[in-house]
Amino acid sequence: MPTWGVSRCTSSVGCGRSSASPQRVLHPFGGLAEIGDSVDLNATTTPTYVGDAHDLEALGIEDDSYDLVVLDPPYSDEESEWLYGTGPQRWNVFVEEAVRVTKPGGHVAVYHVKQPPRPEGTRLVRRIVILTRTWHAARVCFVFEKLAPDLTLFETLTGSRPKQAA
Ligand SMILES: C[S@@+](CC[C@H](N)C(=O)[O-])C[C@H]1O[C@@H](n2cnc3c(N)ncnc32)[C@H](O)[C@@H]1O
Repeated sequence: MPTWGVSRCTSSVGCGRSSASPQRVLHPFGGLAEIGDSVDLNATTTPTYVGDAHDLEALGIEDDSYDLVVLDPPYSDEESEWLYGTGPQRWNVFVEEAVRVTKPGGHVAVYHVKQPPRPEGTRLVRRIVILTRTWHAARVCFVFEKLAPDLTLFETLTGSRPKQAA
């Protein structure tokens, strides 16, 4: 898995200190994210795209275009309303969009307090526990790898295709 680096960089500039090729990063719930491209309903966060994480297609974001998509959504519909003034979230819709715009072999990282289901067409490759301050809740970053379109999860994990019946 590549290292995406920690310093500020733009979408077409190499973000990974240890990777040979440039890495494109997208944050659909951008907030104050500093690395790569961002989407946010709130224009005051000065995202790359002002828009809805549920419909990246409407923003012209193409299939298979990012190496890493980082999902850091509000943790509940209540939080969405009172913290950000945004509407309820449809988990399956924004996750499907995140997977769509991720390159095969690229990664979707989900930052949350609850364990999410594995998105279709991906496999779980990392769970990273994030501790911030004493007495503050831990977060977990779940990292899923997007499977190549013609490979099943079984084939990806075993590196082999089932034998065809004669
Ligand atoms: C949990 S914060 C993201 C925090 C961000 N990672 C940071 O470090 O600042 C959620 C952000 O998502 C935005 N947001 C909420 N619902 C959204 C949606 N449906 N589409 C796009 N952005 C949304 C909010 O305006 C807010 O800026």
